[in-house]
Amino acid sequence: MNDIILTNINELITCKGHAPKSGKEMNNVGLIKKGCVVIKNGRIIAVGKTSELLSQYNIKDYESIDCSNKAVLPGFIDSHTHFIFGGYREDEFLARAKGDSYMDILKRGGGISNTVKSTREASLDELIKLGRRRLDSMLEFGVTTVEGKSGYGLDYDTEIKQLKAMRELNNIHQVDIISTFLGAHSVPMEYKGSEKKYLDFLINEVLPTVKKENLAKFIDIFCEQGVFNIEQSKYYLTKAKEMGFSLKIHADEIVRLGGTELAASLNAITADHLLNASKEGIKALAKSNVIATLLPTTAFSLKEKYANAREMINSNCAIALATDFNPGSCFTNSIPLVIALGVLHMNMSINEVITALTINGAAALDIQDEVGSIEVGKKADLIILDYPSIDFLPYNIGINIVKTVIKSGKIVINRQGGQL
Ligand code: NIG
Ligand code: FE
Repeated sequence: MNDIILTNINELITCKGHAPKSGKEMNNVGLIKKGCVVIKNGRIIAVGKTSELLSQYNIKDYESIDCSNKAVLPGFIDSHTHFIFGGYREDEFLARAKGDSYMDILKRGGGISNTVKSTREASLDELIKLGRRRLDSMLEFGVTTVEGKSGYGLDYDTEIKQLKAMRELNNIHQVDIISTFLGAHSVPMEYKGSEKKYLDFLINEVLPTVKKENLAKFIDIFCEQGVFNIEQSKYYLTKAKEMGFSLKIHADEIVRLGGTELAASLNAITADHLLNASKEGIKALAKSNVIATLLPTTAFSLKEKYANAREMINSNCAIALATDFNPGSCFTNSIPLVIALGVLHMNMSINEVITALTINGAAALDIQDEVGSIEVGKKADLIILDYPSIDFLPYNIGINIVKTVIKSGKIVINRQGGQL
């Protein structure tokens, strides 16, 4: 493997510091001007000013990349996606565009259950093939770690099939995958009206396999009107916690049920969506260690209002941003769009957005000691932009300006690019 040295970096964004960053600290991205990064055996071995490091490291021993007119930052961590699924739901998207709501579609038997049908029909190989293509596309956007959820099986075989697809993809693809078990994504037809029975089936029949075979790191639930209520969510998550899993919750997305407060009381690692989180919920999050994972492309796609990122940051919460890539509510894996919406519609600064997509994304997956920032000892996952500053990320609305992606010390993407 070629070792790499990046020199004269116009803007080196390290995102260094204690993770997760909350409140004001989210604005601190650890900028180094005329920066330099030295990479050896897939790890970062030095970070600093070019003038200082070039006196310690011999440039001839490395593949050197001059980054005079470039910004360099940690690889993006997309910490909330549902990227393993069969089939598409373009008809629902167009029905929503015409005025139907996500809930209207769910009530008439559409939504998640459509994807469940096609995911049950897909073979493991088909899911791997689809997943590989989606990971290729994520890597182009500079995503070096992604979280993926099951939840389109709602039966033993298909849930396990989704998790196995992710395990296999993690072995064969450069992008690192962290898996979450979301068997409690919806109530399958077979259990309609017997939510508790379905949750007991997951607890007794599926979670033990997930645990034994180490197929998922997190347990998640869709706590929502018409799906799982607060009491059921609490019951299920408490059992999962007793089994040693760390928790995530799809909370207060469409209807305010109090999932945000539940996440805080259970000390979940993240509470996700939060479009309708209450003031009390935000206060409870701020007091807890729970990271608020906000998903602006979902709000955009559903034509819902955005989560109140400003109030959360002002209250000292830690925020992660992610795509929520899935076939229903948000069929996009576009990091450029997440960045643009974060800045334009959630009133976040570009620094806060970058923190939310890097070190806080890593903390949302409990891998902040390994990735998420450009620091000595961490995995060399980083990206080089086609422009001299991260300010160009939101300015290039919806455009991918990532030129080079370095994953575990290897150049895995080198795009033609060029400034517009
Ligand atoms: O995060 N909210 C629940 N789950 C997904 C949507 C899943 C779907 O519609 O297929 C989400 O938005
Ligand atoms: Fe989701």
